[in-house]
Amino acid sequence: MGVVFGGRSGEHAVSLRSAASVLGALDPERFDVVPLAITPEGRWLPPHDALRALRPGSEAGAGVALAAPPAGGGALVGIGAVPAAAGGVLPSLDVVFPVLHGPGGEDGSIQGLLEMCDLPYVGAGVLGSALGMDKVAQKDVLARHGLPVAEHVLVLRHEWRRDPEAVRRHVLHELGLPCFVKPANLGSSVGVTKVKCAADLPAALDLAARLDRRVICERAVDAREIECAVLGNEEPEASLPGEIEPGHEFYDYEAKYSAGGSRLVIPADLPAEVTAEVRAMALRSFLALDCAGMARVDFFLERVGGRLLVNELNTIPGFTATSMFAKLWEASGMPYPALLARLIDLALERHRERRVGWEAQRALAGDGGGDG
Ligand SMILES: Nc1ncnc2c1ncn2[C@@H]1O[C@H](COP(=O)(O)OP(=O)(O)O)[C@@H](O)[C@H]1O
Ligand SMILES: [Mg+2]
Repeated sequence: MGVVFGGRSGEHAVSLRSAASVLGALDPERFDVVPLAITPEGRWLPPHDALRALRPGSEAGAGVALAAPPAGGGALVGIGAVPAAAGGVLPSLDVVFPVLHGPGGEDGSIQGLLEMCDLPYVGAGVLGSALGMDKVAQKDVLARHGLPVAEHVLVLRHEWRRDPEAVRRHVLHELGLPCFVKPANLGSSVGVTKVKCAADLPAALDLAARLDRRVICERAVDAREIECAVLGNEEPEASLPGEIEPGHEFYDYEAKYSAGGSRLVIPADLPAEVTAEVRAMALRSFLALDCAGMARVDFFLERVGGRLLVNELNTIPGFTATSMFAKLWEASGMPYPALLARLIDLALERHRERRVGWEAQRALAGDGGGDG
């Protein structure tokens, strides 16, 4: 199996940590693991260079150009020079685990590449990944399914640059202050600003619009942060909920990844009916966004009034053995190695389901001979 990690997104370093945990926990008796790293510049490294790339800042090797073979057939091939030390060819893979966060890895891009290769892979497909990545599209679909989300406004980079005053007025009028400004397609709180006074809004929009063409502005809520892990395909299961207690004003990058930056409370201390509501809403969100394999669904539980909002769903949540996702499953009776094995089984199951459709379409095309 292939484990792909790194990537061009602002979450490269987070991916390296997740991948180190995954590579360390895959049972070598059951899996023949082929590590593949993507450098911050987007070069793919073959296995022998990939492991070196796990160390942040290390000099990576030459890299290799990759392509989906035109005939599909369960392979990802290296074209051009795969260094002789790497065996000259890429080993064939039977399943791939993209341990990538952010654009290029979590947004349907690599999922599309793997589809074209006819390779099973862990996690959501193209649609679920794309909806999981874009905070605006995601909220719009969740709302259509009756799931409560925070009020928000989409701002496009070119709108902001063309007419900043109109955008500023629109955001303040629709949302008021404080509000959150975030790139629509990033994670790990990269580029996220809490704006408390109108004078700070332009800098927040500048930052987010530098990182992404699409920016989401959201009304700030005063809420506890509750997370729930989901596992499965057509009939997913929800873990016990956990709670994040950020040591900072909000759950920013530092709070997420520095030692002592925040506290995870597992299971979250919630009344039974709130726990049940969190789990039910997590499953509804997973299905509404057409996810597969896994997701972590994050909620806001408002301190006043107790309203539960879906903040976001992540299709490739932070995946170290001490990340919320793994901890929630551990608390729900599934240790990390078993979780990995289950995700791979789910990947194979989803791939078989997709094949059914392909085969039926081929049969239909063979019968008919219409013109498309
Ligand atoms: N509307 C909001 N109200 C209150 N806090 C928010 C809001 N949006 C984001 N936050 C804070 O910022 C953090 C990161 O935002 P989030 O939308 O989850 O982006 P990311 O994908 O980077 O995790 C959240 O965990 C929360 O602490
Ligand atoms: Mg988040």
